[in-house]
Amino acid sequence: MSKLKIAVQKSGRLNEDSLKILKAIGISIDNGKDQLKASARNFPLEVFYLRNGDIPQYLKDGVVDAAIIGENVLIEKGNDLNIVERLGFSKCRVSIAVPKSSEAKSLKDLEGKRIATSYPNTVNQFLEKAGITANLHIINGSVEIAPNIGLADAVCDIVSSGSTLFKNGLKEIDKLLSSEAVLATSPKISDENQAIIDKIQFRLKSVLRGRE
Ligand code: PRP
Ligand code: MG
Repeated sequence: MSKLKIAVQKSGRLNEDSLKILKAIGISIDNGKDQLKASARNFPLEVFYLRNGDIPQYLKDGVVDAAIIGENVLIEKGNDLNIVERLGFSKCRVSIAVPKSSEAKSLKDLEGKRIATSYPNTVNQFLEKAGITANLHIINGSVEIAPNIGLADAVCDIVSSGSTLFKNGLKEIDKLLSSEAVLATSPKISDENQAIIDKIQFRLKSVLRGRE
């Protein structure tokens, strides 16, 4: 019998809630965080613990059939992937922030400025739409430090509680996207595995309705 391969964030903010929602729909995974792969005990499913940023490519290639992933990552790296269900957790926004003393009020005020970000495609898309040219500095983490070390005039990153911005003396001036965890599928998924996804989706809908 075919098993659905589903990617879940290896470590980080989505990991725990992803496993929780699988549990809530009756799928229990042996939670060996050191393992990269785990099987469900009572459902035709295998979990692959992967790095967030790698997941869109695995979906595109059909290495995994599905994933629980932040919508922001899909928008950045996997625009053509199919979102099956929005999961209602890990809510955040992708925003532009500047030092408190800055006079910039939106993305439109960043002409010719340097923006540090881990989301270059997303930022570029919005810059183009606004007809603004800026210089992007791509950083993989701790983006909010960039203005303080003189590397950038603005940042674009995820904001959740806002505490990272606050601690770094930054203020949010423009929200580009809202994001939450989603269930997404590979364009290469087989009919057999799509039937498993349909079953999962059915269960998810009832759990999510209960949470409303
Ligand atoms: C994430 C994100 C922001 C912060 C937002 O960083 O890149 O910096 O969380 O959350 P907050 O608004 O609740 O403070 P993370 O701590 O995951 O580390 P990283 O940037 O080094 O990956
Ligand atoms: Mg960060």
